Amino acid sequence: WHHLASCTIKVQKCNMSDQYRGKVIVAPMVRVCTLPFRLLTVDYGTDLVYTEETVDYKMLRSIKRQNDVLGTVDFIDKSDGTVFFRTCERERSKVIFQIGTNDAQRALKVGKMVEPYVAGLDVNMGCPKEFSLKGGMGAALLTQPDKIKSILTTLVQGLTIPVTCKIRILDSLPETLELCKLIEECGVAAIGVHGRTRQERPRHPNHNDVIREIAKVLTIPVIANGGSREISRHDDIKKFQQDTGASSVMIARAAMWNCSILRPEGFLPLDTVIEQYLRYCIQYDNPFTYSKYTVQNMLRELQDTPRGKAFLETQTLQEISIIWGLEDYFKTQLAKQNEGRKSLNFEMSE
Ligand code: FNR
Repeated sequence: WHHLASCTIKVQKCNMSDQYRGKVIVAPMVRVCTLPFRLLTVDYGTDLVYTEETVDYKMLRSIKRQNDVLGTVDFIDKSDGTVFFRTCERERSKVIFQIGTNDAQRALKVGKMVEPYVAGLDVNMGCPKEFSLKGGMGAALLTQPDKIKSILTTLVQGLTIPVTCKIRILDSLPETLELCKLIEECGVAAIGVHGRTRQERPRHPNHNDVIREIAKVLTIPVIANGGSREISRHDDIKKFQQDTGASSVMIARAAMWNCSILRPEGFLPLDTVIEQYLRYCIQYDNPFTYSKYTVQNMLRELQDTPRGKAFLETQTLQEISIIWGLEDYFKTQLAKQNEGRKSLNFEMSE
């Protein structure tokens, strides 16, 4: 019986890994990867899309609300209503929730909260920002094998959804391979590898050769990341996958710059992408600062044009909408949402 049970667990784990084999995946990006951007990537054909990183203790102080006006499930701050995670049925089979954590039990609690709504849980082990490192999270975990083991095994054993982590490489190949083997032994479904060290910046070349060595020694799927400088059209995604020998590719900046790079049919004009993104921002009431940040990253050097300059002056989502010809859409959506809120209040007070 024991043998049978352990075989069953192994088969389940293999099936969980399949979700990460031969896939194109959009990487976690703070402020960018909220619901509107994620839905846009789904429209353009992504296989999976990560949320922005959310720190575990934020989620633990949130409450879950069914939002009947927007058709979403929201996890919101108990005290001020800030939305930490908003999701909807349409993305459920594609969205991977990324957490920042340095504690197994806290991570598990968050995993249980989001488990019914997402396709997987990912632990951020690559963030080099001071905020993460000070909290013992992100890249700080890379040099704490016991912590890694305790977090990942607790999650793998306690959750029914696949668990993964996203790392950066270490200074030497042997150390990196040792780390990856340790992670694999925790039973994770896949591993995301950003081919830069903690000290290296996005302008440095990505160590595709190191990812290739990792892919050779692991049996779980390796998701190659860090290739945006080499990915300027859709076909380059396949090239990056071949160059790294990885199972799947995870793209961050190239998807942020023009997310229609995900379309096998080719790019859409940037204005179309921005317009479609803004429609989702309006429909799902995305915070203005996040929407503006994301559009700014799409515009890049176009911020210097007269329209770009007008955009930089905007202070509300409505003002941005006007620039992309969406004023009527903004007004009708707002009216619809207000109407929905009114009728819900009416039902509740009855
Ligand atoms: C990131 N990155 C990142 N990584 C992560 O694990 N969690 C996160 O929340 C974020 N946030 C984030 C925001 C923004 C605006 C950028 C540009 C990047 C890192 C990202 O996922 C990826 O690892 C790197 O950008 C390298 O991949 P590319 O850009 O070369 O495809």
